[in-house]
Amino acid sequence: MARAQTRYVCSQCGSVASKWAGQCGDCGAWNSFQAEAAPANTPFAAKHSLKSGGAVIALAPLDAGVVLPQRVSTQIAEFDRALGGGLVPGSAVLIGGDPGIGKSTLLLQAAGRMARAGVGVAYVSGEEAADQVRLRARRLGLADAPVLLAAATSVRDILTTLAQQKALGLLVIDSIQTMHSDQLEGAPGTVSQVRASALELIRFAKDSGTALVLVGHVTKDGQIAGPRVLEHMVDATLYFEGERGHQYRILRPVKNRFGGTDEIGVFAMEGDGLAEVPNPSSLFLTARDTPVSGAVVFPSLEGTRPVLVELQALVVKINTGATPRRAVVGWDGGRLAMILAVLEARCGLSFGNCEVYLNVAGGLRVADPAADLAVAAALVSALLDRPIAAETVAFGEVALSGEIRPAAHANLRLKEAAKLGFSHALAPPETKGVGGLRTEPCRTLGVLVDRLARD
Ligand code: TYD
Ligand code: MG
Repeated sequence: MARAQTRYVCSQCGSVASKWAGQCGDCGAWNSFQAEAAPANTPFAAKHSLKSGGAVIALAPLDAGVVLPQRVSTQIAEFDRALGGGLVPGSAVLIGGDPGIGKSTLLLQAAGRMARAGVGVAYVSGEEAADQVRLRARRLGLADAPVLLAAATSVRDILTTLAQQKALGLLVIDSIQTMHSDQLEGAPGTVSQVRASALELIRFAKDSGTALVLVGHVTKDGQIAGPRVLEHMVDATLYFEGERGHQYRILRPVKNRFGGTDEIGVFAMEGDGLAEVPNPSSLFLTARDTPVSGAVVFPSLEGTRPVLVELQALVVKINTGATPRRAVVGWDGGRLAMILAVLEARCGLSFGNCEVYLNVAGGLRVADPAADLAVAAALVSALLDRPIAAETVAFGEVALSGEIRPAAHANLRLKEAAKLGFSHALAPPETKGVGGLRTEPCRTLGVLVDRLARD
């Protein structure tokens, strides 16, 4: 009899190695390899009948009788928006996020509302007992919603039970890391278990036309398989983000086979669950009477929606010889280093003996490249201790040469800023003002520095 082989699987990216190693060669994660029994090698011909093959069908033209599946609304407009217009029957969606951020709450709310709207819904919790889920449903005002509830972790049990259920529109699995497939050995949460369980559930979804939503916890220590292993298997991946201490939550798509990934869903966590925030443009602003140095309002664009956010910079001179700290919350650290380098090289400002802190207020994460100019303005304002007038916004992309490049949808940004009472914009050259809002073109970062030093 052949000896049982052991192989090592990276819990971050799922790459397989025959020997244990401290670092994964594929994704670079440290200490992420877990041992598991290698599957027995079955010859291809023994697994597959080579005589009967599959069937092929034409992509087009569609027969008159063929009806393409319609998207199903989650009954939560912000959720639909992030999904690109609702759930696609038979598809699998992964919702990732830190523990406690509100994934279960969001999905229970969607499940309850969809069930009320007449969709067959099953909610399987592997983390909470059925009574706990019921308590939460009551708190969310959904105690009477006709959701099929199960507290189970065995994929086989779940699928056997659901196979008898007709017309299931939505199946929620909370979370995939608690699921266990008896097709192979290993504790729930290991990469191979997560992958095998997801595979069985996804196959069920495709066969039955049920929309499947998998919840996946993101952990940094790599003990539980990161959702990255799953990302390849599902049709859409969304991350539920937000700072734990803040009220606001953002549902951000990172992959979508059936739609775009540029629209976010915005929610506020309240006492009775997640409330939708259809007009988030002023959500992340700080109200204050006198301007402070280092604070700048940036008209960001999230998908098609403008969102005004406050960027805050703090520059602290230190006299020790130690390398000064740079800390960023809500923006890209590499991009901050670039802006600092351009300010030093092109404008002669020195941050070499200063600690630099940059924060996006309100817990939003900004990925819009047009934030460059606003970040630069915040940094210069903090360094020179010159406040920027409260009715001013700033946006534009900074090139390594120090020139300011135009930003996408300048008009949309300015309109929103004007609507919220801003009257002045530091903007790329040739940006036209809107309504009562006047633009001040900045051709280079040097122009911005001169302007701030002068005031
Ligand atoms: P939860 O959905 O359990 O998070 P996850 O499934 O992502 O781990 O959310 C837990 C947090 O949400 C918890 O700290 C309490 C808070 N919460 C509210 O503020 N209001 C509510 O109505 C509910 C249900 C939860
Ligand atoms: Mg949960």
